[in-house]
Amino acid sequence: MREQLQALQQEALTRLQGAGSVAELEQIRVQTLGKKGSLTLLLRGLAGVSVAERPVLGELANALKDAFNVALQRRMEILQEEDLARRLVAEQLDVTLPGRVPPQGGIHPISRALGEIIAIFSSMGFPPATGPEVEDDWHNFEALNIPADHPAREMHDTFYLPPGIKGEKRLLRTHTSTVQIRVMESRKPPLRVIAPGKVFRCDSDLTHTPMFHQVEGFLVDEGVHFGQLKGILERFLRLFFARELPVRFRPSFFPFTEPSAEADMGCLFCDGGGCRVCKGTGWIEVLGCGLIHPNVLANVGIDQERYSGFAFGMGVERLAMLKYGIQDLRLFFENDLRFLQQHARL
Ligand code: PHE
Repeated sequence: MREQLQALQQEALTRLQGAGSVAELEQIRVQTLGKKGSLTLLLRGLAGVSVAERPVLGELANALKDAFNVALQRRMEILQEEDLARRLVAEQLDVTLPGRVPPQGGIHPISRALGEIIAIFSSMGFPPATGPEVEDDWHNFEALNIPADHPAREMHDTFYLPPGIKGEKRLLRTHTSTVQIRVMESRKPPLRVIAPGKVFRCDSDLTHTPMFHQVEGFLVDEGVHFGQLKGILERFLRLFFARELPVRFRPSFFPFTEPSAEADMGCLFCDGGGCRVCKGTGWIEVLGCGLIHPNVLANVGIDQERYSGFAFGMGVERLAMLKYGIQDLRLFFENDLRFLQQHARL
């Protein structure tokens, strides 16, 4: 019995030394001290030994248990330390690495185009002015020589709003020409202004959105003529597109200008040869313009014998699509980060 106990102690301690993991230690503990463990089974045999030998063997067995537990504890600590050391190396963290950068957008191409348009006109002496997006009938239509029931009103798919507190008709402005009226009502000529801003039309398909941006420009002074208007617009288009573009003026109609014209520029994508963008014509329509109608000057109390003026209006989405090669209008409104990043200028 004594020899058996000693052999068992020897074996158990050797196994503990060889254990490579906490799980293995646990296994050895169960196999030694568990219900069916080797020491447990051996101690059960104590019942059969003589009464004289029993205390000695019992003491020996207890000493063995203690020695086993101490060795187990020590081995456990060593393994845990080794484990910690391994993890410290494996999970090493370089705190000097830069953090992960959150997704970044950029200046929206519409804002960018607006900024460039404003900068070019400012350099030509046209500072920006603004007006309200919720307008009345007078500034959006009447004063601009578009009386009620005039067929030209149908060109504007107007969003009407409930009447104001004084019962006045209210609407979302359908063009930035409203700012012409507001500036002419509140200041004296000579006037030179551009009016960038949002406009609204009840229209939505592949090439129309209910909200879009326009830049209006106008000049009122003595002796203003169409040649000056042509010069300013040609210069603007060439600066905006950074190219020596051909520009042509076609007769057109707007109630608030007379004569009226639409300006086309040579197609940027085929240089006049004809392609899908210019529908084979070699020309792209970019803006409307004309000399301010005498009725409009009269409506705001400007002496039409002394003064004349020109005005023009352009769509910013269209100019931005042409300049940055954006083929789908909807991209402007989706706020897809990939699109914004692609057009971000850092
Ligand atoms: N207001 C016109 C439009 O929205 C554009 C325009 C402005 C035309 C000024 C001539 C003069 O279509």
